[in-house]
Amino acid sequence: MELIKELEDKLKRVKQELSSHKIELHQTRGYLQCILQNTNDMIFATDVDGILVSFSKGGEKVLGYTWNEIGGYPIKELSASPEEFQEAMELAERQGSAVRLEFPFKHKNGSTVYCDVSLISLTNTKGQRVGTVGICRDITEWKKLQDELMRIDRLAEIGRIASGIAHEINNPLAIINEVAGWADTVVDDAEGLKEEDRRELKKAINDISEQTRRCRNITHQLLGFVRPTPPEKVSFDLYKLLKETVEFLKPELKYSTIEVVLDFPPEAVLIKSDPKMLEQLFVNLITNAIHAIKEKDPEKGIIRIKARRMDDELEILIEDNGIGIPEDKQDKIFNLFFTTKPPGKGTGLGLSICQNIINKLGGSIGFESTPGEGTTFRLILPYKE
Ligand SMILES: Nc1ncnc2c1ncn2[C@@H]1O[C@H](COP(=O)(O)OP(=O)(O)OP(=O)(O)O)[C@@H](O)[C@H]1O
Ligand SMILES: [Mg+2]
Repeated sequence: MELIKELEDKLKRVKQELSSHKIELHQTRGYLQCILQNTNDMIFATDVDGILVSFSKGGEKVLGYTWNEIGGYPIKELSASPEEFQEAMELAERQGSAVRLEFPFKHKNGSTVYCDVSLISLTNTKGQRVGTVGICRDITEWKKLQDELMRIDRLAEIGRIASGIAHEINNPLAIINEVAGWADTVVDDAEGLKEEDRRELKKAINDISEQTRRCRNITHQLLGFVRPTPPEKVSFDLYKLLKETVEFLKPELKYSTIEVVLDFPPEAVLIKSDPKMLEQLFVNLITNAIHAIKEKDPEKGIIRIKARRMDDELEILIEDNGIGIPEDKQDKIFNLFFTTKPPGKGTGLGLSICQNIINKLGGSIGFESTPGEGTTFRLILPYKE
């Protein structure tokens, strides 16, 4: 009798323990579920073969896939470098864990998402491996910031170099300019010169002065990268400036049949902005267009510059029928030092300078390009202010 009582009590205790374990298990499961649902990180679990068996809501945000779309898939297929990811999974299996690994993943929209990944090998109470858990933090933005910091660092370096170059170059430029002025007076006073020769000489001297001025502007713009010079805004006719810029570039067009078509209304359009900065911007964009055409077919080259007024803004389009920009390069062309030109032909500075200028002037710059057919750069500039 007593034995039965004792067994009954024992059974009762075991039942109580079991139900409290059940509650605990339920709570733990709820707790884990809560972490999986609410974390911004991508947390996943796989079986021993690396097949996804669980995936956090954060993971859906990071990679753009829902659980229904990827459940049952090998996790390595979501990585942009599956073989390396597999090696990392194997490393975690051998060592128990592998932490702080940087891996690129493929987002559903085709972009690359960089993650800081920790992998932990899971074993059951008998010590058998049952799978892997991964905790992945999206560090794409952070990486962009790092790249930006490196860019700024290089920018500062350029600035230091530019300061030196500007200093050294501005002095001879000033002398060239002075000598050109003196030559102009000599030509004016020279007796016995044919009128036609005098005109040609004066035009050549004028070209020397204009090009010297352009060089000075370029060195000043380079300096503007480090010493943030505010724009000097004045009122001027933008169309006139565009025409003059194309004139400047005539030497670049020599020996080619590239046609430059200016397509804007005949009346002046007064704009309050910095003419030196804008000139630099146009020179860079038109020079790029000339290069793109020369690379394709200079015989049929045409650059069309269109401008039109919109409400408070001006739209300027610079269209070329050159080589175009390959799709995989399109997101890089504004990067400092990005160039597809051979050494000595391009430094990859032009578009960075353009971006810098347009930011200072409160406008925007964008482009559309069809590889093999041509490119159109679109500038938006505010009128006033
Ligand atoms: N109109 C265009 N058509 C085709 N590709 C272009 C055009 N404009 C720019 N690019 C591409 O963008 C790259 C970067 O242009 P960017 O002006 O910054 O440098 P760059 O012309 O190579 O050198 P730099 O201007 O410093 O002499 C070019 O090398 C070229 O590949
Ligand atoms: Mg350029």
